[in-house]
Amino acid sequence: MLNAEKIKKEFPILSKGLIYLDNAATTQKPYQVINSMKDYYENYNANVHRGVYRIAVEATEKYEEAHRVIAKFINALPNEVIFTKNTTEAINLVAYSLGMKLKKGDEVVISLMEHHSNFVPWQQICKLTNAVLRIIPIDENGNLKDFEKHINKNTKIVSITHASNVLGTINPVKEIIKKAHEVNAIAIIDGAQSVPHFDVDVKDLDCDFLAFSGHKMLGPMGIGVLYGKQEILKEMKPFIYGGDMIKEVNINDTKFNEIPWKFEAGTPNVSGAIGLIEAVNYLKRLEMNNVFSHTQQLIKYFLETSSEITNLKAYGPKEKNGLVSFKLGRLHPHDMSAFLDELNIAIRGGHMCAQPLVNFLGEAAVARASFYVYNTKEDVDKLVKGLKKVKGVFKV
Ligand code: ALA
Repeated sequence: MLNAEKIKKEFPILSKGLIYLDNAATTQKPYQVINSMKDYYENYNANVHRGVYRIAVEATEKYEEAHRVIAKFINALPNEVIFTKNTTEAINLVAYSLGMKLKKGDEVVISLMEHHSNFVPWQQICKLTNAVLRIIPIDENGNLKDFEKHINKNTKIVSITHASNVLGTINPVKEIIKKAHEVNAIAIIDGAQSVPHFDVDVKDLDCDFLAFSGHKMLGPMGIGVLYGKQEILKEMKPFIYGGDMIKEVNINDTKFNEIPWKFEAGTPNVSGAIGLIEAVNYLKRLEMNNVFSHTQQLIKYFLETSSEITNLKAYGPKEKNGLVSFKLGRLHPHDMSAFLDELNIAIRGGHMCAQPLVNFLGEAAVARASFYVYNTKEDVDKLVKGLKKVKGVFKV
C-alpha cells in the first residue's frame, strides 16, 4: 500500500497545503524529476545525435536510455517508442501518416467518450479524406454500447480511449483490438488516463499504437509517447520532415533514418525525456498495482463520504479509474471550482476537453476530482467539507 503522506513530502508544490485534485489534467512533479532536469541543464546540456564531444555524448546516451526505460515500462522495444510532445501529437502523427491514406467509404471508429485529442484529429482526417467517422455510443452506465456493431469490413482504423477522463470508465480494449484485427483494421489506444494508473502491456493488448503523455504520470510537460509495432513503423511515412530524421539528403531526395528517429524530426525534448525516466522509475518503485488500488480507495472514500450531500450527482460506472466527475444541483462547476480554490483545493470544472461526451450527459460543464499517488484521505475530507460549504453558500 502507498504511504501518501510520505509521498506528498517529495512534491515541493504540495508543501504549502495545496490540496491538488486535478491529476487527470496534469500531475505534480517530485524532486527526482525536477532535479534530473536541472542536472541536465546545469551539467550536460547539449544537442543529441550530433556532437562528438563529451557532454553531447552524455546527453545522447541519456536520451536513448529514455527510449529503453519507457519501452520496458509498457513492454515494448526501444525502437518502438517515439517521443512526441504529448498524447495529442502522438495521435496526430498516426492520423496524418496513416489516416491520410484513407479513401472515400473507408471507416474510422472512435467512441463518444474520447477527449478532444482522440476525437478532433479523426473528425478532421475523415473530412479531408471523405472517410466515414463512426462513433460508438455509450449506455446509461457510462460503458461503450455494442462496440462490435460499429466495426465491419470497411473499418480501417479503430482509435479508442483506454480509460475515460470524464467517466472513469475502463474500456475492454483487448476485445476491441481483437475485433479490429479480425477486419484487418489498425487499433490505436489512447492511454492518456490508463498508463499513469495501471500496468499497460502493449504486447498483451496487441495494440498497433498506444499514445500517452508524460505530464499526467509525474513527468514534465512537453514529452509524450507514441508506441507503434515496429513492422508498421518501418513501413509508415514520417509526419514531420527535417533534421535528425534523415540518413542522407541530396538535392533530389532524402533517405529517412531508422525508427524511432524517423519520427522524431528536429531537436527533441531531451530534458523532458530525462525527466520522464525519473517519473517512470518513481512509479515503478511504488508499483503500478499499488498506484491503482490507492486511487481506488480514495474514490470509494469520496463516494461514501460525499453521499450525504444531497443533490450531488456522480457520473460514470461504479468502477472508476482515478477520478469522479459530478454536479452539485444546478451550481455551475466553475463557481464550485472557484469557491474551492479559496480553500486551497484545486479541482477541474468545465467541459473536460471532451465536449461531445459532456453534452451527451446533458451538461455544458461538470466538476471533476481526480486523484493520484500523493492524495490522502485527509485531502478527500477537505474536499467533502468544502463541498458542504459550497452547498450552504450557494443554497443548491
Ligand atoms: N485531457 C485533460 C483533462 O482531462 C486535459 O483534463
